[in-house]
Amino acid sequence: MAPDIIKKVDDAGVIAVLVIDEVKHAMPVAKALLAGGVSAIELTLRTPVAWEAANAIKDELPEITLGFGTVLTVEQVQNAAKVGADFAVAPGCNPKVIAAAQDYGLSFAPGIVTPSDIEMALEQGCRILKYFPAETSGGMKHLTNMVAPYNYLNLKFIPLGGLSINNAAEYLKSPLITAIGGSWIAKQDLIRGEQWAAITQNAHEISQLIKD
Ligand code: 3PG
Repeated sequence: MAPDIIKKVDDAGVIAVLVIDEVKHAMPVAKALLAGGVSAIELTLRTPVAWEAANAIKDELPEITLGFGTVLTVEQVQNAAKVGADFAVAPGCNPKVIAAAQDYGLSFAPGIVTPSDIEMALEQGCRILKYFPAETSGGMKHLTNMVAPYNYLNLKFIPLGGLSINNAAEYLKSPLITAIGGSWIAKQDLIRGEQWAAITQNAHEISQLIKD
């Protein structure tokens, strides 16, 4: 990842994972997150409107650090770079996708959950890694033990998968973590139900926890 993006993600401390079905929801959800103090978004490429939603957010809310999630193909990397995404992440560690991100100058964090994944990512030059799925893989206990042999490399991790306001503190206190992420802040049901105040409240809760 580029140093300016690392700083942006680190400063944000939390990334809201979004699955958006309708373009009309992009702006209100982004504004609801900002109102609660969350300025970094991972917009997943699991719905066809994700690209249009990203363009809307990028045009109107430049203060948002906007990344794409579920980036599985070289073509998606190319499109993400074209849209001007700040970063991209994937659930897994695909060397072709990592190489494409480097070619297109897109800051990319591949997903890892084993030492072999970490070493594959290292070989590709990645130093910021998505730890996914964090909770069911053993949470911070698993990550801390797995990373011990690589500590001298000063790797940083973004844990995702099963995080919530109830377990976020455990991740945030570790020096291995640059930022946490999760869908709980703006769940798909809340977006579909246009529950913007609830999203702002969730964003506010996690922002406060990060500040404390
Ligand atoms: C992701 O898309 O990065 C993860 O699915 C987020 O996991 P969560 O839904 O458990 O927060």
